[in-house]
Amino acid sequence: MANKALATRQRMRHRVEPSQQAPRHYVARPAQKNHPAATRLIPSTVSKISALLTGFHSPSSTTGTPMFETSAASDKPDYDLLNKQLASILDGERALMTNAAQFSALIFNSISDLNWAGFYFCTEAKTATQEKPCDLLLGAFQGKVACVRIPLGRGVCGSAAQERKTFLVPDVHAFPGHIACDSASNSEIVIPVIKDGKLYGVLDIDSPRLARFSSDDQTGLETMLASFIAATDFSALPSI
Ligand code: SME
Repeated sequence: MANKALATRQRMRHRVEPSQQAPRHYVARPAQKNHPAATRLIPSTVSKISALLTGFHSPSSTTGTPMFETSAASDKPDYDLLNKQLASILDGERALMTNAAQFSALIFNSISDLNWAGFYFCTEAKTATQEKPCDLLLGAFQGKVACVRIPLGRGVCGSAAQERKTFLVPDVHAFPGHIACDSASNSEIVIPVIKDGKLYGVLDIDSPRLARFSSDDQTGLETMLASFIAATDFSALPSI
C-alpha cells in the first residue's frame, strides 16, 4: 500500500499541466543539476524527426522515453493530429489484428467518455443464407468483455454492416434491437469497414454519455478508419 501511495505521489509530481507542455518540436528532459529552469528543453535527435512531428518516438529509442505518447482523452479530439499519430503507429505493419488493436487503444485513450471501442469482423455465418452469408465476430477492442457474435441486421452493429452506412445513435435505448453488451452504454457510433467495395466488418464505439458523438466525431472517426483500412491487409478475412 505504502509503495503504491509513493508511486502515485511520484507520478503526480512528474505530471505536466497542459499550459506547461513543451512545443511539439521539443522533448522535455529532467533539469540538469544547478540549472535554473525546472524543466530543460533540448532538441531531439535526427532519428526522431518524424516522431516529433506527430508527438511520437522512434521504436528504436533506448532513452527510456515511451515509444508512443498520446494526448490525454479529449471531449473534442484533434482528429487531424490523431490521424497523424495513427499513421505513425501503423507505419510498417499491415497485420490486421495488430493494427486493429492499436487503432482501438488509440481511440479509447484519446476520446473522453468511452466505455468500449473496437471491431467486429466478418466470419462465416453459423446459419448462412444467401442474404446473410456472414456473422460479425468480436475482434480487437478496448473495454469490458462483449457479445461474441452478431448476425447481420441485428443491433446497431448488424444494421450498420447490412446497410453499409454509419449509424450515429444518440440514445441506444431508443434503438430497436440494440444489443446491450455493457449496461453502461447510452450512445454509440458504428462505422462499416469497407475496402474496395467489400464489407469486412464494423468499428463500434460506445459511450455512457447520451449523444456523446457529434457529426465532427463522425467525420473524424470515418477519416481515421479510412487510414486504418488503407494501411491494413484484410486478405485473410471473408467479406461480402
Ligand atoms: N451495442 C452493439 C453491440 C456491440 S457492443 O456494444 C460492444 C449493437 O447493438 O450492435
